[in-house]
Formats: sequence, structure tokens, C-alpha cells
Amino acid sequence: MIDEYISDKTYSVPLQGLGVGPIGIFDSGYGGLTILEKIRIELPQYDYIYLGDNARTPYGTRSFDVVYKFTLECVNQLFEMGCQLVVLACNTASAKALRTIQQKDLPLIDPNRRVLGVIRPTVEAVGAMTKTKHIGLLATVGTVQSNSYPLEIAKLHENIVVTSEACPLWVPLIENNEHNTEGADYFIRKNVENLLACDPQIDTVMLGCTHYPLIGEQIQSYLPESVKLVSQGEIVAQSLTDYLQRHPEMASKCTLGSSVRYLTTESVAKFASSASIFLNKEIHAEHIDLG
Ligand code: DGL
Repeated sequence: MIDEYISDKTYSVPLQGLGVGPIGIFDSGYGGLTILEKIRIELPQYDYIYLGDNARTPYGTRSFDVVYKFTLECVNQLFEMGCQLVVLACNTASAKALRTIQQKDLPLIDPNRRVLGVIRPTVEAVGAMTKTKHIGLLATVGTVQSNSYPLEIAKLHENIVVTSEACPLWVPLIENNEHNTEGADYFIRKNVENLLACDPQIDTVMLGCTHYPLIGEQIQSYLPESVKLVSQGEIVAQSLTDYLQRHPEMASKCTLGSSVRYLTTESVAKFASSASIFLNKEIHAEHIDLG
């Protein structure tokens, strides 16, 4: 099934490329902006291209095959634009597509390029944060159903219990800029309360979706003060910094210039206006048709 997508289309990476380029940051929509911002604080010297697949968001309710296909298309788009390193700033894509892209696609497309995700760095960091050894996960349906977080946590940390709550409405509310409404509050409260009711010993809650920091204050307001809320931005930024230090050959392929291009598969006006609200500054966006 998956192989169909690989052979479906020839993704030609231009050989005329110089083998250097901006760092690609991909998300299904706006969520990856929360990661990009933190990465730019840690690594301001590099050039970045942000790609939001807003036309096809949300990914979180889609099947494994569809998330994989869409993610691969976006990664290839970023490769065609010269990126040598792409960060999937999306948990759903990291859960459902990253491994296949790393293991099956990259060796065929270009073994020298790299695609990194956000789940592993989050899991590495979170083990030291819990005292009760009971962690909560708020994420999309896709990420929860993939079981990626409990599996990765079990690999790295002994005896940590993970309880997950899927929040299918949060991404659509954020993508439609409806998250600061009473209706949104109702669903945020409901999901947070469900999570805590399932395991009252939770002392650490992971935001396992890059959109969720945009409603971080609302989520926090429904958590007891003693419960720590963990966003991924700083964790991923630190992990990328470490990665580039450990891989100078990749660091040397990432161009320096401190520029950012924002690409969206949806309307430029919609992206620019919502992204400007999320980022608290005006941005210029460009439309991109994939394929
Ligand atoms: N930001 C994506 C994530 O981290 C949202 C997925 C979606 O589009 O539903 O999972």
C-alpha cells in the first residue's frame, strides 16, 4: 500500500542544486509556527522555509496512508526548494509518516538529506519532568491512535504511565481562528477534565500537537497548579541545536542569512492574517501548489 505512494510519482530533486539550502519546517497548518519561533530563537543564523498544508488540514483525523502521502509530498516540495534538512513540526506527521520517510523514501530520494520529527525529542525531555511517573498526553486522534508516545516513552523511561486524550476539535478551532470563544473553551475544558479523570496522579501534561501552545493558557486554566504543562517548541529547538552540533556536515549545508519564507497551500491572505495573529507580527506569505 505504502509502496504505491513511493512509485506513484517521480520526485526529482534537482541535481543542479548546490546541496545547500534553508531548513524546512513543515506542519499541516499553523501549529508548526510555534516550533519555528522557538527554533529561530535558538538558531537565528539560519534561513528557513515554513510550509503549512492549510488546504488539507487537519491531518489528525486522517488515515495513516493519507497522512503519509501528504507529508511526503510536502517534504519533497521542501527538498525541491533546496532544503537539505526538514523538521516535521507536526506530531501527527511524525507519528504516521516519519519512520517510513526516513527508512524507505530518503534512501531513494537522496540519502544525504535528513527529515527529523518532534516526538522523540519530547519523549527524551519529559522523563525527567514527572515525579509521580504519571504523564498525560493531549494530542490529535491520529497521534493518540498511533500509540507513538507510549511506545517511545516505554523505550526510554521505565515505569512511566501515559494516559492519552484525543482532542479532535482543537486543531479545526485553531485553524479557523475560533479558539478564543466560549465554544472552544467548552471543548478544551472537557478534554482536559477527561484526561485528569482517567488518571488523577498525572503531574505532567504533554502538548502532543504543535497547534496546542496557541491555546496553552486556556488548557493551563483547567489544570491544577501542581500539574506541569509541557510544550514542544523549546524542547525541539534545543534538540535541533544539539543535532546540528553533532552533525557539522549537515550544519554546513544549512544556509546562513536569517531569512524566513512562509508557504501555504491555502489562501495567502488567510494564512498571513492568522499567522500574524499567532506570531504577533505581520508576515508575508506565498501560495504553493504541491506536485
Ligand atoms: N500540528 C499538528 C500536530 O502536531 C496538527 C495535526 C492536524 O492537522 O490535525 O499533530
